[in-house]
Amino acid sequence: MNHLLELAYLFGSIAFVVGLKMMGQPDSARKGNLVAAAGMAVAVFGTCFLGEEGFRVIGNLSWIAIAIVIGTLVGTVMAKRVQMTAMPEMVSLFNGMGGLCAALISVIEWRAIQASGEVLTLGHYLPIIAGLIIGTVSFVGSMVAWGKLNGSVGDFRFQGQQFINAILLVGVIGASVMTFRGGDQGMLWFLTTIGISTIYGLFFVFPIGGADMPVVISLLNSFTGVAAACGGFLYHNNVMLMGGVLVGSAGTILTVVMCKAMNRSLTNVLIGLAGSSSSGGGKAVSGSVREVQATDVAIMMKYAQKVIIVPGYGLAVAQAQHVCHELESLLESEGVDVKYAIHPVAGRMPGHMNVLLAESNVSYDKLVEMEHINSEFSTTDAVLVVGANDVVNPAAKTDPTSPIFGMPILDVDQSKQIIVLKRSMKSGYAGIENELFFNSKCGMLFGDAKESLQKLVNELKTV
Ligand code: TAP
Repeated sequence: MNHLLELAYLFGSIAFVVGLKMMGQPDSARKGNLVAAAGMAVAVFGTCFLGEEGFRVIGNLSWIAIAIVIGTLVGTVMAKRVQMTAMPEMVSLFNGMGGLCAALISVIEWRAIQASGEVLTLGHYLPIIAGLIIGTVSFVGSMVAWGKLNGSVGDFRFQGQQFINAILLVGVIGASVMTFRGGDQGMLWFLTTIGISTIYGLFFVFPIGGADMPVVISLLNSFTGVAAACGGFLYHNNVMLMGGVLVGSAGTILTVVMCKAMNRSLTNVLIGLAGSSSSGGGKAVSGSVREVQATDVAIMMKYAQKVIIVPGYGLAVAQAQHVCHELESLLESEGVDVKYAIHPVAGRMPGHMNVLLAESNVSYDKLVEMEHINSEFSTTDAVLVVGANDVVNPAAKTDPTSPIFGMPILDVDQSKQIIVLKRSMKSGYAGIENELFFNSKCGMLFGDAKESLQKLVNELKTV
């Protein structure tokens, strides 16, 4: 191979690794994204213009250029317009597109082999069929996840669905073997493989929702990476292989971390057994709710020694991160020890709260992960729950009928006082009531989180 092309691929691979590493820290994440994108641009340029004999122009260049221009325009407009709270939907959509690309590569390669009459070796066949199955599941599953995240797709589950899912998994392997055996029925089995993979993708994601969505999203992410890596094997393209492997392994690590965080088994997620139902369910909660006013909360916090802020999805909706940081700084200037408790699935995407708070320059060492902060609630004077709901719901520990049962939560009920900032008594993502709001130690400060936090800041300045 041309050394220049090899160098372009090496540069692309290194830039991807370095970029990924930089994305691990909020302050370098933006640059990391650019570094990885620059590496990929060099690799794409190399593919288009460098061949075995040196400089050459790849076939179909105008089609490739049209696709790049359309993709760039659509992607840029979407990225500019997307609301921060709709990011997970966009990630699902883009992830699905990656899966579809990988599946289409397999379809094109399969058709090319059929047309040429070439004898298919197992080594050539495996990346084609693996890319097809994983890419299809990833595409279909991501589209369902996208619909679920934006609320346009509901849950669907029937008795014995997990057995059907297990049968579908076996069926897709059988159809793949039959495809490889070829003969007159080869194309029929190939289409059957696509059909079963599509049904599996639907059945796999349809029943999952509520607290288990993060696990599925990261799993689909890793599927797309693996499907892209299959394309790398197929074309002996090192940069595609490297990119796919990195995305696949990062997604797999995230999936394992999410499974641990949610106390779920990966096998159960794969056959659709995770969670009983995504929305609703769980015991009804009754009792009275204590409403509090900003003045009282401000006085209570001013005289506290230690305050823990629990951010959740509502903080992102209200875009209240800046005023939240202002409140934290004010309290610190009064000598109060302030920390943030970060639940691994708070918000709607992995690291959502970290990104949000980093945006307002909250010091990274103030963000404490759930397993470290839980022991601190018993020595805390006041907890301020800002737009969080499911991640502080005690039903996860006490109610086996609840869809979030088993999920570890932030033990805010251990603290001396709990103040919850939300607009109403409405439920969170899992669609269940929260008995924490009826706890005698809990006061509800109703209103938009940004407005409520602003009131607290104003009050603190005057008391
Ligand atoms: P949620 O349980 O979704 O609760 C958010 C709360 O914020 C709601 O109860 C809502 O109550 C309140 N809220 C919304 N807008 C607000 C505003 N402008 N001002 C004040 N409050 C507002 O959030 P959570 O505790 O962060 O839990 C996350 C949930 O999402 C979990 O079930 C998790 O499994 C799921 N999920 C997470 C991810 C990832 S990877 N993080 C991905 C998909 C799903 P009101 O309407 O009454 O204000």
